[in-house]
Amino acid sequence: MSFDYKIADISLAEAGRHQIRLAEHEMPGLMSLRAEFGAEQPLKGARIAGSLHMTVQTAVLIETLVALGAEVRWASCNIFSTQDEAAAAVVVGTGSVAQPAGVPVFAWKGESLEDYWWTAEQILSWPGAEQDPELGPNLILDDGGDATMLLHKGVEYEAAGGVPSAAGTDSEEWVIVLDRLRAAQAQDGRKWTRIAERIQGVTEETTTGVHRLYQLAEQGKLLFPAINVNDSVTKSKFDNKYGIRHSLPDGINRATDVLIGGKVAVVCGYGDVGKGAAEALRGQGARVIVTEIDPICALQAAMDGYQVAKLDSVLGEGHLFITTTGNKDVIMAEHMLGMRDKAIVGNIGHFDNEIDMAGLSRVPGVVKTEIKPQVHEWVFEQGSDAERSIIVLSEGRLLNLGNATGHPSFVMSNSFANQTIAQIELFTKHGTGEYQNQVYVLPKILDEKVARLHLAALDVELTELSKDQAEYLDVDVAGPYKAEHYRY
Ligand code: NAI
Repeated sequence: MSFDYKIADISLAEAGRHQIRLAEHEMPGLMSLRAEFGAEQPLKGARIAGSLHMTVQTAVLIETLVALGAEVRWASCNIFSTQDEAAAAVVVGTGSVAQPAGVPVFAWKGESLEDYWWTAEQILSWPGAEQDPELGPNLILDDGGDATMLLHKGVEYEAAGGVPSAAGTDSEEWVIVLDRLRAAQAQDGRKWTRIAERIQGVTEETTTGVHRLYQLAEQGKLLFPAINVNDSVTKSKFDNKYGIRHSLPDGINRATDVLIGGKVAVVCGYGDVGKGAAEALRGQGARVIVTEIDPICALQAAMDGYQVAKLDSVLGEGHLFITTTGNKDVIMAEHMLGMRDKAIVGNIGHFDNEIDMAGLSRVPGVVKTEIKPQVHEWVFEQGSDAERSIIVLSEGRLLNLGNATGHPSFVMSNSFANQTIAQIELFTKHGTGEYQNQVYVLPKILDEKVARLHLAALDVELTELSKDQAEYLDVDVAGPYKAEHYRY
């Protein structure tokens, strides 16, 4: 069987396969779903366009979707996050390097932005679908919402007869997206519309992508149902927090090997990701200062024992600055100019607009030196008495995936078990009227199921409610155990 794909180096497949094998052992949620649903094949007929960091853990997710009957095409959702050996192993699958028999992957570490949007288009363009739209994708699995955004922008563009709308567009990337839309329009004026018509839904992985989906739904523009995987408790309260607690120091260490203990670390944002980041840095012995705009999160940070300050007040104090807000323009060029010599600046939120990289490159006389890939020194006032520099990780993109390999398998097993269940939910309920063009979260009983699948691996003994106790609490013995409004 031959199929199209584009990765860095297929000969890395064996190395990738070894890592995937070990990851499977650490991903009991996904492996249990394979055991539970393998025979039933609930995803038979599903054609999933996946856009999510192409890591070893994602390889286990992809192969789980395939084991449940799906056909899949995959791209990464970040230009630096692919683990090339994982991509190679997924392409080879049960075949060989000479005759791959796995899944078409379009992802490599160090894509350009043009490459990135090309890969996004590849996962939505299925072989044969131009002649027969039924062969195109019918589900999207997204992280950050770029695949969903591309499709929505494409449909909007076609509906407007090839006139671009300026709304919700970010300059440099938008120019690249627009080029792709123009090229498609020149060949086929209904390419995106045809694809969108067959999409039965999207499952979205992260806070930033979910935010985009709710905006589309509020404007009445969402073209298909969406499941917000991020807000499953077993996703955002685990991956965003405990995953970051692991992968943030991992990224800083691999990038710089600077001792964190004794340093001052400034964490911008104290949501789920910020909480994990602050805890990790404190765990390494740093004195952590938090910045926040939300009084509740600011008070939480204070109660957790962190100093809470405005960024401007602590610029000269910090040795490390980490953004975790999912917002834009958090650390600006003027801020970076006020930092101490060799301060480390990194972002762990989804997009690169948290740190003003464009402004940094425009600082008069600034000199950028590559220390190694994804680690750059930016020198100010070179040659003068005032010469100093800062170190920027992953060019302002999420550093845990750019400088390290992202979250560890066990926590991703929780996130990806939610993804798998959400895909089954949308695919098997399509046509029943249960899901409209709105954003949904998975029912709590399924959230509890995901947690349950991970207990045995950690030797957790779960106490069982007696019937009497369950009646007293007004819950079922088998769950769900909490009301929808409970916050954990
Ligand atoms: P969240 O909404 O729980 O937390 C963000 C916090 O930042 C909020 O408390 C908000 O009040 C605060 N904030 C907003 N603007 C701010 C500003 N200008 N200054 C200081 N604080 C500000 O979101 P969550 O779940 O923590 O996610 C944050 C980002 O991280 C998102 O972009 C998400 O997609 C991404 N993410 C990245 C992961 C990774 O592996 N790198 C994993 C999970 C999420």
